[in-house]
Amino acid sequence: MRNPFERLPSPGLDPRFAVGATSWPDLRRLLAERRRLARLLPFGGTGNVTAYCVLLLLAALAPSAMALLTGQLVTATAAPSSPGQWAPGTLSLLVAIAVVYVVQQSAEAGQQVLRVAIARRIDGTVRARVRELTLQPSGLSHLEQPDLQDDLNRLWDTGGMINRTRSPGTATAGIVVAGFQILGALVATAVVFTFSPLLAIGLLVATLLIRAINRRQWHYLTDVADGRARYRRQVNEWSELAAGPAAAKEVRLFGLGAWATARRRRSALEWAGPIWAVRRDILRKQGTTMVLSVGAGFAGLAVPGLAAASGGIGIDDLVVYLVAVWGIFSARDVGTDGFDIEYGLGAIRALDRLIERYERLGAEWGARPRPTAVLPGGCGDPPAAPHIHFEDVRFTYPGSPRPTLNGVDLTIEPGEVLAIVGYNGAGKTTLIKLLSGLYRPSRGRIVVDDTNLADLDEGELSAWRRRMTVLFQDFVRYPGSIADNITLSAPESLDLECEAAGRAVADAAGRAGMDDLLASAPEGLETRLREGGAGSLGLSGGQWQRLATARALFAVGRGRRLLVLDEPTAHLDVRAEEVFFDQVVREVRGASVVLISHRLSTVRHAGRIALLRSGRIAEIGTHEELLDRDGDYARLFRLQAGRFQTARGGSS
Ligand SMILES: Nc1ncnc2c1ncn2[C@@H]1O[C@H](COP(=O)(O)OP(=O)(O)OP(=O)(O)O)[C@@H](O)[C@H]1O
Ligand SMILES: [Mg+2]
Repeated sequence: MRNPFERLPSPGLDPRFAVGATSWPDLRRLLAERRRLARLLPFGGTGNVTAYCVLLLLAALAPSAMALLTGQLVTATAAPSSPGQWAPGTLSLLVAIAVVYVVQQSAEAGQQVLRVAIARRIDGTVRARVRELTLQPSGLSHLEQPDLQDDLNRLWDTGGMINRTRSPGTATAGIVVAGFQILGALVATAVVFTFSPLLAIGLLVATLLIRAINRRQWHYLTDVADGRARYRRQVNEWSELAAGPAAAKEVRLFGLGAWATARRRRSALEWAGPIWAVRRDILRKQGTTMVLSVGAGFAGLAVPGLAAASGGIGIDDLVVYLVAVWGIFSARDVGTDGFDIEYGLGAIRALDRLIERYERLGAEWGARPRPTAVLPGGCGDPPAAPHIHFEDVRFTYPGSPRPTLNGVDLTIEPGEVLAIVGYNGAGKTTLIKLLSGLYRPSRGRIVVDDTNLADLDEGELSAWRRRMTVLFQDFVRYPGSIADNITLSAPESLDLECEAAGRAVADAAGRAGMDDLLASAPEGLETRLREGGAGSLGLSGGQWQRLATARALFAVGRGRRLLVLDEPTAHLDVRAEEVFFDQVVREVRGASVVLISHRLSTVRHAGRIALLRSGRIAEIGTHEELLDRDGDYARLFRLQAGRFQTARGGSS
C-alpha cells in the first residue's frame, strides 16, 4: 500500500520550458492551487480585502485610462486653435490625466500597505491552525516523524536567506495582484483589438506564454528548495548549536565554536548548492522568453507605427495603441510576485499534508469503542486511586528494529508505593509514557479500573491524565514564575478559583524542600524564573528538581491519584535524597506512587520493587524479598551499598 505520508512526487518540471509542456492536468492543478489560496483571502479581513481589491482595480485600469486620455489630449492639441489659447478640452484632459496619475500612484502605495496587513492576518490564522493541529493528538509518535518536522519547518519558514517575507499570506495577496494584472492586460487588449484584432490577440498570447514560463520556472525552483527541507533542518540544528543558549556552556568550554560554524556552513552549502544551481540553470535558459519578448515588442511597436506612417491611423490613435500595448506587456512579468505565490504554495502544500496526517491520526485515536468515561478532574471530590494492570505489554518505537517492552505484566494496586528499577535503557520511562497514553502498546493491554487505555478517545484520555501526574526525568523548566511552575501540573486550578488551590501551592513547595529558595526569592512565589537565569532568578539543577517535585505534589493535592516520579532524586544533594522518601513519598495520601530511581537507598523503602530487564518484569517483591532472592536487584544493591562501606572502611 502506498504510504500516505510520503512526500508529494515532484511535478518534475524542467526549467527549459517548452510550449507543449502545458497540459490540461497542469492547468487544472494550477487553478486548484489558486482557488486554495483564494479561500484564505477572507482571513485577511473583509475591509482590508475590499480596499485592496478596489486599489488594485484602479491600478489595473489606470494604464488603459491613461492611453485613452493621452490619445484625446493629442487630438485636442492637434486641433486648430487661436495662438496663445488652449485648445478646447485640453485643460480638462490635463486635469483628468493628472488625476489618473495621482490615483495610480496612491493606489500603488496603498495596496503595498494593505498587502502586508492582509498577509500578516492570513499567516496568523494559518499559524493558529497549525498550533491547534499539532496539539490535537494525545500521542507523541507523530511529533517524532521527520517528515512532519520538515512540513512544520516549511510552514514557519518565511523565505530562507532572502530578506523578503514569503508565506501563505504573501502568496494569497500575490494571486490577487496577479488576477488584477491579467484583468488590466485584458482591458488593454480590448483597446488594441479596436485597431487590430490579430495584433491584440497575438500580444496577449505572447504575454501569457512568457508569464507561464516564468511561473513554471519559479515553481521548479520552489520545488527543488522544498525537496531540500531536511538539509535546511540540519542548518538550523547547527545554528542552534553554534549560537543558541542550550549548548553554550560546552561549546565554549570545549572550544567548539569554529567546528560548529564550519559544520553549519557545510550544511548550508549542501542545502543551498542545488538551489543556486537551478537558479543559474534558469538564468541560462531564458532563450524562449527572450525570443517571445523581442518578437512581441517589435510587433507591438512596428504594427501601429507603420499604420501611422502610412496614414492609416492618426498620431492620436498611435499614442493610444502604444500605451495600450504597454498595458498588455506589463502583465508578462510575474517577477517576485511569482516567487511569492509559488513559495507560499509550498507552505500550503505542507499545511495540506499536515491536515491530512492529523485527520488520519484523529480517526485512528477517535474511532474506538466508547467505554464509560474515566473520572474527570476539577475542583470536585478527588477520584479514587486507580487499579492498573499491564497485561503482556509490548512496545516498539516507530522505526526501531527492536521492541523496548516485550511482555510486561505488572499490577499497580490503589494506594501502593511501587518502585521500578533497571539498567539505563531498560524501558522504565517508556513504561510511563505508555501509562500516560502518549504511546499505545503494539500488543497487550494497559487496563485501568476495567478500562483498556487503548479504547479511550481523546477526551477520555484527557480525563485519565487528570487522574495522574508525572514528574518526568527530563521535566520542563517553564519560563514563568515559581507559582506557575508549580500550578501548571493542574491547569484547571488556574481558572477555577478553588480555595484549596492557593494553599496547595505553598504546601507542595514546602514539602519539596523549597523553603530556603523561597526565602531568598525576591518576590517569593511570584519570582520569575528562566532557564539559564538571565534577567530573572536562575536555579541550580537540584533547585529545579525540587520545583518539579513541588509541581507533582501540587497535582496530587489537586486530586491526582497516581503520582509517577521518574528519577526525582538524580540532582538532589545527599541530605535531600536521604529525606526524600519520608518527606515526599510517604506523605502522599490517597494516591498510588510509582517511583523510578537508580538510587536504591531511596527505592528500598517502597512497598514493592519491580526490576525491568530485557523488556519484562524480571523480579518483583519487597526489598527484603528481593535480597533473599539474590538476583539482579540484590547484586545492584550490594554493589551500591558496598561502595559506601568500602569508602568508610578505607577512611577509617
Ligand atoms: N523517542 C524514542 N524513539 C526511539 N527509541 C527510543 C525513544 N525513547 C527511548 N528510546 C529507546 O527505548 C529504550 C528505553 O528507553 P527508556 O528511556 O524507556 O529507558 P530507561 O529505562 O528510562 O533508561 P534510563 O535509566 O536511562 O532513564 C532505549 O533503548 C532508548 O534508546
Ligand atoms: Mg528513564
